[in-house]
Amino acid sequence: MRTPLLAANWKMNMARRDAKLLVEDLLKEIADVRDRDVAICPPFHLLADVNDIIGSRSNIYLGAQDVYWKDSGAFTGEVSSPMLRDVGCRMVIIGHSERRAMFGETDETCCKKIAAAREHGLIPILCVGESLEQCEAGKTAEVVANQLRGALQGQTFESGNDFVIAYEPIWAIGTGKTDSPENANKTMGILRDTIADMFGERIAQQVRLLYGGSVKPANIAGFMAQRDIDGALVGGASLKADSFSAIVKY
Ligand code: 13P
Repeated sequence: MRTPLLAANWKMNMARRDAKLLVEDLLKEIADVRDRDVAICPPFHLLADVNDIIGSRSNIYLGAQDVYWKDSGAFTGEVSSPMLRDVGCRMVIIGHSERRAMFGETDETCCKKIAAAREHGLIPILCVGESLEQCEAGKTAEVVANQLRGALQGQTFESGNDFVIAYEPIWAIGTGKTDSPENANKTMGILRDTIADMFGERIAQQVRLLYGGSVKPANIAGFMAQRDIDGALVGGASLKADSFSAIVKY
């Protein structure tokens, strides 16, 4: 049985004051939620503050939105896995489509980042997803399976809890359009089969697969009812305590 995971990706949003209020309100709203995991992934400058507010709630994970693969040194502007651990992170998003499209992220860089994150005990949330053109050309399965294989090659896993995959069709991100739950489930079934092929059936049955792309309180239940969807990676609707708590409590 996989524990649902609802993850907030704040992207490049929030000042300190608003962030603290949001997390305080959110924690009040979800104080009784024990049967699912929640991840909050703020921008780097808010990680320490958000960590202080989360405190020792073990089912609430602090996550970063990116990481560099070296531990330290002359890499101006980058942040390393030991640094993320130092401020309380337990998860890190890797390979978000915005980073692939705007900041040169590739399957190869994702692969290095995943290796570095895991070496330091961080759980990577690897993002995969196809563009509208690829979707319309019927290439979704091929694209996402290749992204998965490229980013996870060379890894070995003791447990499927050591990583998370987020399937985010690029055309559904921030657009208000979503994939249908059935269609998303089909693609995510292909991802699970690919993981089984790479790492074995036990790992594939343990790993959590998140859907992302215009997830809202009104549509989360439909996704969570699907067999291969174990949670969501939420952008816009995670920036308000009422909407994200409603998603967590779907
Ligand atoms: P939206 O929920 O705003 O569509 O963003 C999805 C996303 O990119 C989460 O990583």
